[in-house]
Parts: sequence; structure tokens; C-alpha cells
Amino acid sequence: MLESTVDCTESECCHQDLERVLISRAQIARRVAELGKQITADYQGRELVLICILKGGLPFCADLMRQIELPVHLEVVGASAYKGGTSPSARLRITKDVDHDMAGKNVLLIEDVYDSGNTLATMHDLLTLHNPASFEICSFLRKDKARPREMPIRYVGFDIEDVFVVGYGLDFKERYRNLSCIGVLKSEIYKE
Ligand code: IMP
Ligand code: MG
Repeated sequence: MLESTVDCTESECCHQDLERVLISRAQIARRVAELGKQITADYQGRELVLICILKGGLPFCADLMRQIELPVHLEVVGASAYKGGTSPSARLRITKDVDHDMAGKNVLLIEDVYDSGNTLATMHDLLTLHNPASFEICSFLRKDKARPREMPIRYVGFDIEDVFVVGYGLDFKERYRNLSCIGVLKSEIYKE
């Protein structure tokens, strides 16, 4: 579990709406490089299809793919689980499917955060119907919480406490995706 947090004013990713920075830009860069090395080693001699879950997984996927030294194909899928707030809605809307058949491919699904697990479970069920040669999940964040259906996450960027976070792709009402760190919003922002 990630313990270190810094006062927002000490961070390079300072934003007036953040109460604290949970993961700094430097910590993210180091961890993404480590994951890239690990994935490169694990898939040696194989071709990899990265499937990025939009929109939150986009910055992570863009950084991670450039740390992987293998032939990589990129696909994107869209899912919308939150209706502009901080609590999950039970229903998941698939907004975009893959463009190609994944039969016989080595698929690595890229997610921003493993929260309730609803998104990953739905995407897993959808994509494994293609009969890929292998199917694994890489999630940038994993929250410490109980879930109705646990998904096997092969690669995890950071284990964090069960708090709502923004930045590095993660949004609150579509804002803050462009922050280069992961932070916790000031409580008054939720009340606006
Ligand atoms: P799930 O609950 O695991 O299905 O996560 C669904 C989606 O909710 C994630 O892909 C994120 O886009 C979003 N989400 C979950 N937790 C957070 C958070 O702390 N901040 C911003 N978005 C989140
Ligand atoms: Mg998302």
C-alpha cells in the first residue's frame, strides 16, 4: 500500500483544487518504466495487443507502450461507468468496441483504476469471447476494497487506499485528467 503523500504546495503538480498529492509525476514515471521492463521480459518473442480503456487509461497506456520493447498493436475500447460523480453506477455503457478480431492474439487490457471491478469484469467477458491466445490485465491503480467479483490483475502500478483520486487520466466531472500526478481533491470541490 502506498503510504507517502505530499502537501500539494510542495509538488510539481500543484493544483489549487488538490488537497494532497498521492503519487508524484516522478513516482509515476519510475513505476511505468518498471512495468514496461517487466512486460517486455514476460512477452519476449511474442507480439502484444494493448487494449486501452478510454478515457481514463489513455495517459498511462501512452506512457507504458513507449516503455515496451516489443512489436505492439494498439486498440481502444470505451466504457462509461460514472455519471459525472464519485460513486459507481451499476450499469456500464460500452461506448466503443475493438476494431479487429482478437482471436489468437496476446491481449493486455490497460485500465486506469481497479475500483468496483465492474468495468474490468465486463471487458474481460467481452474480449475473451474472441478467443485470444492470452488475456491479461494491467491496471495503473488498484484500490484496497472488497469486490463482488475479484479480477486477476497481472500488472498493478500502485496499490492505493479506497479514496476518490484524480489526475493522470482520472477525472471528476471530466476535469483534472491532464494533471501529471495522482491527487485527492479538496472536499469542497465535490460540493460545488
Ligand atoms: P470500476 O468501478 O472498477 O468499474 O471503475 C470504473 C471506472 O470508474 C474507472 O475506469 C474510472 O474511470 C472510474 N473511477 C473509479 N475510481 C475512480 C477515482 O477514484 N477517480 C476517478 N475515476 C474513478
Ligand atoms: Mg475509466
